[in-house]
Amino acid sequence: MSQRTLVLLKPDAVRRGLVGEILGRIEAKAGWTLGALELRTLERDTLEQHYAEHVGKPFYEPLVEFMSSGPVVALVVEGERVVEGVRRLTGPTDPIAAEPGSIRGDFGTITRENLIHASDSEESAERELKIFFPGLA
Ligand code: TYD
Ligand code: MG
Repeated sequence: MSQRTLVLLKPDAVRRGLVGEILGRIEAKAGWTLGALELRTLERDTLEQHYAEHVGKPFYEPLVEFMSSGPVVALVVEGERVVEGVRRLTGPTDPIAAEPGSIRGDFGTITRENLIHASDSEESAERELKIFFPGLA
């Protein structure tokens, strides 16, 4: 079942020079392809739409501050079961709880600076793709 998902390599990943490493893990999966790729500094407004479910939570303001602190790499990844697949490569939100071998588990320590966003369901993916890549068919 071919799907599309939105991936963001967060400002910490870009600052730490981990874009190639993380992108390589995604790109190496059989049959997955890049549908779009862009280096972009995110506006508050974009982040508010993207993180709509978290507006008002205690971590929301620092999250937006962090996510707009430098450029991110925004990607569309396409392929077989890519929504679940990228979430598995990513690991859980808290990088210390994430298994070594996962991206967050290998490179992260702090929940806020957890390197990568990946859509959590097909519905989220379609919603988020419209925010970041409105021109996409
Ligand atoms: P969430 O959607 O719960 O996690 P995920 O990215 O794994 O889907 O939260 C969005 C981001 O908000 C998360 O990647 C990091 C940040 N965050 C915090 O800073 N503190 C928290 O307690 C939580 C739950 C998330
Ligand atoms: Mg989420």
